[in-house]
Amino acid sequence: EKGEFGHFMLKEIYEQPRVIKNTLSGRISDRHVLEEAFGVKSKAIFDQVDNVQIVACGTSFHAGLITKYWLENIAKMPCQVDIASDYRYRNIIVRPGTLFVTISQSGETADTLAALRYAQELPYVGRLAICNVATSSLVRESDFSLLTMAGREIGVASTKAFTTQLVALLLMSLVLGRRNGLDEESEAAYIRDLHQLPDIVDKALAQDQAIQRLSIQFADKHHALFLGRGPQYPVAKEGALKLKEISYIHAEAYPAGELKHGPLALVDDKMPVIAVAPNDELLGKLKGNLAEVSARGGKLFVIADESAGFDDEVDYQLVRLPPVPEVLAPIVYTIPLQLLSYHVAILKGTDVDHPRNLAKSVTVE
Ligand code: F6R
Repeated sequence: EKGEFGHFMLKEIYEQPRVIKNTLSGRISDRHVLEEAFGVKSKAIFDQVDNVQIVACGTSFHAGLITKYWLENIAKMPCQVDIASDYRYRNIIVRPGTLFVTISQSGETADTLAALRYAQELPYVGRLAICNVATSSLVRESDFSLLTMAGREIGVASTKAFTTQLVALLLMSLVLGRRNGLDEESEAAYIRDLHQLPDIVDKALAQDQAIQRLSIQFADKHHALFLGRGPQYPVAKEGALKLKEISYIHAEAYPAGELKHGPLALVDDKMPVIAVAPNDELLGKLKGNLAEVSARGGKLFVIADESAGFDDEVDYQLVRLPPVPEVLAPIVYTIPLQLLSYHVAILKGTDVDHPRNLAKSVTVE
């Protein structure tokens, strides 16, 4: 039931603090990931891993792209991320010590399942599924799984499944990190951050009205550009996908550093440009990129850390988020982008929960 919310999508966006808590529950203590959550077979497999191959589609693929940064930063491990429909038809070369990971809300996506079946024939050390449906084919056919506890997701546009996937994948990154030099104190610091996550997501949701006010400026647009750097690039991709899916506005995401290699030519005073700007070491670089957009008359919308030194100026419009531990920023900065696409779709009068031409679960190729 949608209850007080007009649409399942909005209800599911607002469920995120709770389902994130559910996804963490029983999986972390005060200082550690409780590795048993990955099942009895997992230890012997994790012990052999020094490389990770992730395969998924759509929004779940974006969760994979973010995980690559976590694996590099936390577990000091290389990671390859592929789209399932591409991976399944390639001649895949498997490095020794590689863990194969699929990510899927439904666990029934045809391409992801076909990729897993292909991977069964390849010399991976194990096959892990990050999935929201315990009884799904993907979970049944994988060596082990970690379930996201998002509850049933009804809106076609994936929201709470995505953020809970990220939580599960961060736990996986910590478990692998432990085996590769992540010390107890550092793990404990990440766990402290994770314990705060539901409250921080609540604070991001509190920006809903500010985002709704901005959405008015998108309703008559045909194009939009999303920018982010580092792990915020996949967040920007996810924001662009959400806007395309439910508001039918053509949206592209770019790593902000790529602007001058082509897309800057698109920028004029009719082009809305949305940037995600947490207070991280790439902030200075991002600000430089945004100045390039302003100089071309682009209409800038910045979702920024309130301590990131952005002030309300004529040059851009701002949504402020509280300071966020760096590791959690991709999860938290996704929330305003979900809300933005929702409000724009409402203004455009589209069928938010059932966008045209799309199915919730893509069980055919
Ligand atoms: C976008 C969306 C799709 C799915 C994709 C994979 O909002 O929902 O892009 O993420 O079809 O689906 P799952 O995760 O069920 O494998």
